[in-house]
Amino acid sequence: MKEQDDPNNTVSFDENVVCPVTGEELTLSGEELISSSGRRYAVADGIPLLYVDENAGASASKKSSPETEVTHTVQDFYEDAPFPNYNTFDSVSTFVRQADAGIFARLLRNQIPLNANVLEVGCGTGQLSNYLAATTVSRVYGADMAVASLQLGHDFARRNGIEGVRFVQTNLFMPPFRPESMDVVISNGVLHHTYDTKKAFVSVSRLVKPGGHIIVGLYNHIGRLRTDVRRVLVRCFGERVLFLDPHLRKDLSPEKRRAWIRDQYYHPQERKHSMSEVVNWFGETGFRFISSIPKISGEFDRDEKLFEPQNPGTHVERIMAEVGMLFSQYGGEGGLFICIGKKMG
Ligand SMILES: C[S@@+](CC[C@H](N)C(=O)[O-])C[C@H]1O[C@@H](n2cnc3c(N)ncnc32)[C@H](O)[C@@H]1O
Repeated sequence: MKEQDDPNNTVSFDENVVCPVTGEELTLSGEELISSSGRRYAVADGIPLLYVDENAGASASKKSSPETEVTHTVQDFYEDAPFPNYNTFDSVSTFVRQADAGIFARLLRNQIPLNANVLEVGCGTGQLSNYLAATTVSRVYGADMAVASLQLGHDFARRNGIEGVRFVQTNLFMPPFRPESMDVVISNGVLHHTYDTKKAFVSVSRLVKPGGHIIVGLYNHIGRLRTDVRRVLVRCFGERVLFLDPHLRKDLSPEKRRAWIRDQYYHPQERKHSMSEVVNWFGETGFRFISSIPKISGEFDRDEKLFEPQNPGTHVERIMAEVGMLFSQYGGEGGLFICIGKKMG
């Protein structure tokens, strides 16, 4: 993405990226972004460092809180082991092939509207952001608070000539993006690692344009039971029982393997949720339920239409879908479910 020259000879950075504290536009001056009221943010190796704590404007005595401590703990965790990381043999073609094999990414690639603004919040090492930038004509933003993760995503894009993606260091509770600027906001496997999943959801939902979509992936209470059992086994018998984890039977680089084991078995902060909770959050924030993975009723088709409205089902039907996760790949690989909502208005 190119910065645009404005008529006053300052360089306006990107109309969708704003000061996380004041929401003001940012201009680029050398290696710094500057807001109109003079706040300055570094750009390190092409990555704008726009992370701020939630209490950024507070006095020093109020700066530390249990909430910011959780955020810092999780940030340190991912700085140490960026997730999911890359295989050493990953190139654009291997990586597009692998992503195409996973139905969700392929369906997204084919169904995201043309020229959409797409934001992946908690992009980690940026696989999905890079994949969407490489295979669609969207303008993609990969946002995460861990610089080590963003750096891997940014370097991969640069090495492989992927354009149309911008990685931005972000605290999702203080997002440096213009409200209602995104056609699609994706946050997969992220919000349950914050101090308050619903608050995190509300924060990122504000970035969706009216008529745009939010795609949220969370651990499920029931669907994650297989991982819960394995976690207990790891505590009792050590990592020798990890052969039970289907994901670890894949061909993974040592970095990817370490990132997965830490993320699944040693995470300092995670919660689990239900489909009904997310359906309720949609209702409370002006979103309409559109679809889910797994589906609430019926089989998920290889050519499923992600953005066409499906029946949200009853509470009991949703629980049945969650029980079904236990006996499918969803339950084997961490128990994530995805819900897609459309912003009304
Ligand atoms: C399990 S990883 C998921 C990565 C990616 N979405 C995926 O599916 O592979 C969770 C990511 O969320 C990010 N994250 C957690 N809390 C965050 C916050 N408050 N602001 C921004 N990113 C956050 C972490 O840094 C981490 O990279």
